[in-house]
Amino acid sequence: MRIILGIGGGIAAYKAAMLLRLFSEAGHDVVPMPTDSALRFVGAPTFEALSGHPVRVSVFEDVETVNHVRQGEQADLIVVAPATADLLARLAAGRADDLLTGTVLTATCPVVIAPAMHTQMWENPATRRNVEILRGYGYTVVEPAVGRLTGRDSGAGRLPEPAEIRDAALAAHAGTRPRATARTEVRPQTAGHAGPRADDERAGDRTPGGPRREGPLGGRRVVVTAGGTREPLDPVRFLGNRSSGKQGIAVARAALDAGAEVTLLLAHTEVPAPAEEAGLTIRSVGTALELREAVFAALAEQPADALVMTAAVADFRPGAYRESKIKKDPEATDAPVIELVRNPDILREVVQRRGEGGPAPALIVGFAAETGSEEASVAELGRAKLCSKGSDVLVVNQVGTDLVFGSDRTAATILVRRGSETEETDVAGGKDDLARRLVELMASHPDMRRR
Ligand code: CTP
Repeated sequence: MRIILGIGGGIAAYKAAMLLRLFSEAGHDVVPMPTDSALRFVGAPTFEALSGHPVRVSVFEDVETVNHVRQGEQADLIVVAPATADLLARLAAGRADDLLTGTVLTATCPVVIAPAMHTQMWENPATRRNVEILRGYGYTVVEPAVGRLTGRDSGAGRLPEPAEIRDAALAAHAGTRPRATARTEVRPQTAGHAGPRADDERAGDRTPGGPRREGPLGGRRVVVTAGGTREPLDPVRFLGNRSSGKQGIAVARAALDAGAEVTLLLAHTEVPAPAEEAGLTIRSVGTALELREAVFAALAEQPADALVMTAAVADFRPGAYRESKIKKDPEATDAPVIELVRNPDILREVVQRRGEGGPAPALIVGFAAETGSEEASVAELGRAKLCSKGSDVLVVNQVGTDLVFGSDRTAATILVRRGSETEETDVAGGKDDLARRLVELMASHPDMRRR
C-alpha cells in the first residue's frame, strides 16, 4: 500500500527514518513528507535514499501535478510521526500551509498521528484540545510513551518506538486496533502481581467470532473497564490500588450472558482474565493514560451502547518516570519527594464528549468507591458524584480495608438518573448479583431501548 509518512520538526524525527524502513521492509511504498523544520533535524537525502522518492515540502513544488491533491488521492494511509505541538495545532485548525498539511486535508484514507514533545507541552490545555479535535475528525492519535525526553528530564511525551507506531498504523488501516501493551521498555511493571504485559499470555487483543447471542442485551455492544491502573515510578515501583477486577469481570460476564457483545478493557487484576469466548474482546492496559486511549479507541471503532467504568483509575501519576531504580543514599536520612501530576478523568471526558455530539455510548455507568466521613455519608457522596461526573448511572460501593476490595461479596447502591429524579436500588450479595442487577437496569433503561 502507499503510505505517506509525515514528519514534524522535533528531535524524534530521526525515529521516522526507522519507521520508514519498517514500512518499506514490509513491502509498502512510503512517501516521506517532512515539514521544513523536520529537515533541520534529519536531512532530505536520508528520507530519499530510504524511500526512493524525492522529498517535497511545499505546495509550490511540482505545481503542475497539483501535488497535494495527487498525494492525498493516492494515499492508502497517512502516518504523522513525530507530530509536534505546532503540527497538531495546524492539523487541528485545518491549515494547509505546507505539503503535509495540505495533503492531510485532501486525503480520505485513515490518518494516524504519533505526537512527541515535552510533557508540559503535551499536557497544556491547548494541546489537549487539539488532540480531542483531531480524534473528533476520526484520526487515530497514538498516546506518547512515558520515558526519557530530549534532555535529562523524563515524563509523558516521548515518541513510542517505531514498531509500536507501525502496529498502530497498520491496525488503524485494517480497521482494527493494535493490542494495548505495557510498552515494557519505558513502563516496566513491578515484580509480584505484575500487571498485564506484552509477553503475558493473557495480554493483548482477543476477538473470537461467533453467532450473536439472544437476550435482553442481544445486538448491543458494551464496553467494560476493570481492575486497577498502575502508574510506574521507576523500573521496579508503581503507584497502584486495591482493585481486584472481580466486579468489572462480573459485569462483563453478566452482559455477555444477557446477549451483549462485550469489549473488556483490563487494567491490573488479582484474578485471571476470562477465557476466550464468542462475543468477548479483551484488551490489557497498564496505566490510566493507556486505559483512556483504549476506552476512546473502543468507542471510536464501533458504536457502543453502554460504557461501564468499573476500573479503579489512578487520579494521579508520578510526574517523572525514572529510567533507573531510585536508590537510597546510605549517608542521608531524608527520603525523596515524589511529585504527582493529575491523570485525566476518563468518565468525565466521555460524558463531555457525548455532550459535544462526539462518539459516545447511550448509557454511561460509573462506579464510585467511597469510605464516607464524618461530614458526608456514602450515599450522600454517591449522589454528589452522580451529579459531578454526569454519568447516567452510578454504582456506589462502601470501601474500606476489609470491605469490597478483593472480596466476592459487595454492598452497593445503584443510582439511576430518571429525568430530574434519581432512583436508588440497594444490592447486597455477591459481585455477580450486583452485576446481574446492573445489567437488568441497563437493559430496561429508556436510552438503551431507544437505540
Ligand atoms: N474514573 C475515571 N478517571 C479517573 C478517575 C475515576 O474515569 N481519573 C472513573 C472510575 O472508573 C469510576 C468513577 O470515575 O467509574 C469514579 O471513580 P472514583 O475513584 O470513585 O472517583 P474520583 O473521580 O476519582 O473521585 P474521588 O477519588 O475524588 O472521590
